[in-house]
Amino acid sequence: MKTAAIALALAICGLAAAAQSPSLPHLRREGGATQLVVNGRPFLIRGGELGNSSASNLDYLAPFWQRFRALRLNTILAPVYWDLLEPEEGTFDFALVDGLVAAARKHDIKLVLLWFGTWKNSMSCYAPAWVKKDQRRFPRSVDASGRSVEILSPFSPANRDADARAFAALMKHLRAIDGEPQTVVMVQVENEIGMIPDARDHSEQATTAFASAVPPDLIEFLVKRADSLAPELRERWHSAGAKRAGTWADVFGGGAAAEEIFMAWHFARFTQHVTSAGKAEYPLPMFVNAALIRPGYQPGQYPSAGPLPHLIDVWRAGAPAIDFIAPDIYFPTFVEWTRRYGRGGNPLFIPEALRGPDAAVNALYAFAEHDALGFSPFAIESIGEPAAGLLAASYDVIEQLTTLILAHRGRGTMAGLIQEHPDNRQPQQIRLNGYALSAGFERSAPPSLADGAAAASSTATAMPAGGLVIATGADEFLFAGIGVTVTFAATEPGWQTGILSVEEGRFVKGRWQNVRWLNGDETHQGRHLRLVPGRLSIQRIKLYRYR
Ligand code: DGJ
Repeated sequence: MKTAAIALALAICGLAAAAQSPSLPHLRREGGATQLVVNGRPFLIRGGELGNSSASNLDYLAPFWQRFRALRLNTILAPVYWDLLEPEEGTFDFALVDGLVAAARKHDIKLVLLWFGTWKNSMSCYAPAWVKKDQRRFPRSVDASGRSVEILSPFSPANRDADARAFAALMKHLRAIDGEPQTVVMVQVENEIGMIPDARDHSEQATTAFASAVPPDLIEFLVKRADSLAPELRERWHSAGAKRAGTWADVFGGGAAAEEIFMAWHFARFTQHVTSAGKAEYPLPMFVNAALIRPGYQPGQYPSAGPLPHLIDVWRAGAPAIDFIAPDIYFPTFVEWTRRYGRGGNPLFIPEALRGPDAAVNALYAFAEHDALGFSPFAIESIGEPAAGLLAASYDVIEQLTTLILAHRGRGTMAGLIQEHPDNRQPQQIRLNGYALSAGFERSAPPSLADGAAAASSTATAMPAGGLVIATGADEFLFAGIGVTVTFAATEPGWQTGILSVEEGRFVKGRWQNVRWLNGDETHQGRHLRLVPGRLSIQRIKLYRYR
C-alpha cells in the first residue's frame, strides 16, 4: 500500500512535469570533453556504488542515506534486480525502484541504475526463476567439455528478447516517474559481461556462428576506423592479413584471441538489442562496465569478451546504442587503466573503484586528467576509516571546485597528480601553461600528523598522495590534494621562476576565501608548493619570472 502510494506520487510528479522537461539527462561533447548534462546543467558524479544486495530491501538501505550525504556523495549507483522486478513473466513489481527513487530524492542524491539482467559478473544469477528453470526455452552457454554453465547464451533470441522486454518495462516506468525530476541520470546495462571458464560459448549455435563469416558490419567498421582502432585489435587483424572477408579464425588469426573477439561481437549485439529496447522507452545515457584483466591472464582465464579496452571497437561496432564503456578499477594500476579507457573519445566514468584511502586521490586525478564524468567506490555503505574521511574531504574539494573543473574540461589546462604506481618514487613531470612542474609524493603520514610534522614515520598507515592542478591564469595555478610537493620552472629558455605567493583557501558559494598565507616554512621559503600529507587542502600559487 505504502509503495503503491509512493509509485503514484512519483508517477504524477514525473508525468506532469515531463511535459515541460527542457531535456533529459544526456551527454554533450564540448571541445575535447564530454559533459553529462542533468536538469539542464553539466554534472560531475561524486558517486558511490552500493554493495550488490543493499538495494534489495529499502529498510536495510534506509539508515545509510545520511551517511552518503556526510560523505559528500551526490550520486548513488544502485542495482535493479531482474528476478525481483519480474518475478513472474510479464508481471512487474516496481516497488523497490520507486522506493529507491523516492529515498534518493528525499536526500537530494541522484541515481545511476545498474541493470542486473541477463549477466552479472559473467553469471546469470539475477535471471528470474522462470528463466533459470526453463533451460529449453532459455538456453545456457556450454563449456569446452560440453557442460552447460549458469551463463545464459547470447546466441539465443529468446534470452535476448526476455531481457529486452524487462529492461524496456523498467525504462518505461522510469520515464513515467522521473521524466522531469531526473533523479536517475544514467543506466548501466548488465554488469561485467564476460565469458568464463572458456574464451567462447561452445553451444551448438555458438559453434556454428564461430565457423561462419565475420559479419560485414564489423569488417566495414574496422576498415572505416583503420587508423584509430585499439592497437591490440589492429595488430591482430593486420597480422592475420587485414582480410575483408572470412571466418572469425581467418580474419582474426584463430586461437583464444579470435574466440574472444567473436564473443565480444555477440555479447555486444545482445546488449545492443536490450539497450535499444530501453532507450526506445526512455533514452537516458547508457553504458557497460568491465571486469579488468589480471596481469598475464589469457582469454578464458578472465571474464573474456567484455567491454575491455582491446575490444572497444568490436563493442562500438556491435552496440552503437551504448554511449561509453567503463572500467571497474580495483587494481593499483589506476593510471594505466584510466589511460586505456580514456582514449579514442571514450568518456571516462569509473562506476566501481576500490574503497581504500587512494580513492580520494584517484577521484581528483580522474576528473582533472581525463575529464571524467564521475568516480564511484564500490560498496560505499561499508566504507571505513581512514578511507571514508579522505573520500569525504576529496568529494568536498571536488564540490568546491566543480565550476572551475567544468570550465577547464577539454582545454588542456588541468592535470591529475598521481604516482604512476604506488611503488614508483619518481617525481611526475607535467608541462602546463608555460611551466614545467615536477611533483614529488609523500604517502607516509597518518592523519594525526598533518601540517608536515614528522611526515616520515615508517610505521604510519599508507596514506594517499596526489591531487590535481589547474592553470587558472598566466603564472597562476590552483592545486588540490594531499602529500604532493611541486617545484616550477619556466619552459622559456633564459628565465628562472620565483614564487610570488602561496595561499591556502577554500571556495564558499563559489568565492575564494583565504585560510592563510604560506610564504615561509610551508613553501620552504619560496622554493616549492606543498600539499601537506595526511589531509586534503586547496592552495593557489602565483609565480613570476626573473633572469
Ligand atoms: C565487481 C562487480 O561488478 C560488483 O558487482 C561486485 O561483485 C564486485 N566486483 C565485488 O568486488
